[in-house]
Amino acid sequence: MHHLAQYTATNISSRQDAPVIVFDSGIGGLTVLREARVLMPDRHFIYVADDAGFPYGSWEEPALRERIVSLFADLIRRFHPQLCVIACNTASTLVLDDLRQAFPDTPFVGTVPAIKPAAERTNSGLVSVLATPGTVKRAYTRDLIQSFATQCHVRLVGADRLATLAEAHIRGEKIDDELVLEQITPCFIEKDGKRTDIVVLACTHYPFLANVFRRLAPWPVDWLDPAEAIARRMLSLLPENKDKILHHHDDLAVFTSGKPDYAIRRLLQGFGLRN
Ligand code: DGL
Repeated sequence: MHHLAQYTATNISSRQDAPVIVFDSGIGGLTVLREARVLMPDRHFIYVADDAGFPYGSWEEPALRERIVSLFADLIRRFHPQLCVIACNTASTLVLDDLRQAFPDTPFVGTVPAIKPAAERTNSGLVSVLATPGTVKRAYTRDLIQSFATQCHVRLVGADRLATLAEAHIRGEKIDDELVLEQITPCFIEKDGKRTDIVVLACTHYPFLANVFRRLAPWPVDWLDPAEAIARRMLSLLPENKDKILHHHDDLAVFTSGKPDYAIRRLLQGFGLRN
């Protein structure tokens, strides 16, 4: 496993060849990487998980902000990325501006709750945003509602256990349906004869649980996963890759703990990430 401190950027030869960093607190960002790979099979990716800081949902804002900015100082120095993707709503809604200010030469793509597309798509006008407690309390999230969804009834649901449950699920552990149901139930609202018809998956871990959500949901809804839209945004910002070299064998996973367990290492291998 490549611990941050053990890796240097000596094998990164040119800007065109420079990697794209996809960052999350854990394995959630892999749901974004998966879509990015579909659109950009010829790019070199480095997946970074701050698993030593997981879960981000319960951190105090100033401490988390400081942690992520200093992590990126290190990552940018070591890998010289051509683009960084913050594949984490909890982090993006807090530090995107700070990162852009601190590292003006590096473009950043964030992942923020897909409130705008949900407001455009809903028929009933009842939209729920399923996220970590951190994302739910951010001013950024409230601003998105104010800017794009005042015509809707938006319910913010801060789930304190789901990111951890998603990690367990992906490790192959059995997760308790009751607990999942308890976490998603506040998303389902009936009002004036109408029902919630869209639930925004506003944490990148949650798409890993989408099938469980579908099975347990009291009625069918559209579970909105923004991963593909993020991948399209990444593609629009990257210069054309003229070499069309396939870089998959170079793709790497960096975990800040330096020691993800066996199940996670298997998962990373399945994603073609050296670790
Ligand atoms: N995957 C992260 C997100 O999109 C959050 C998981 C955590 O609590 O660390 O918000």
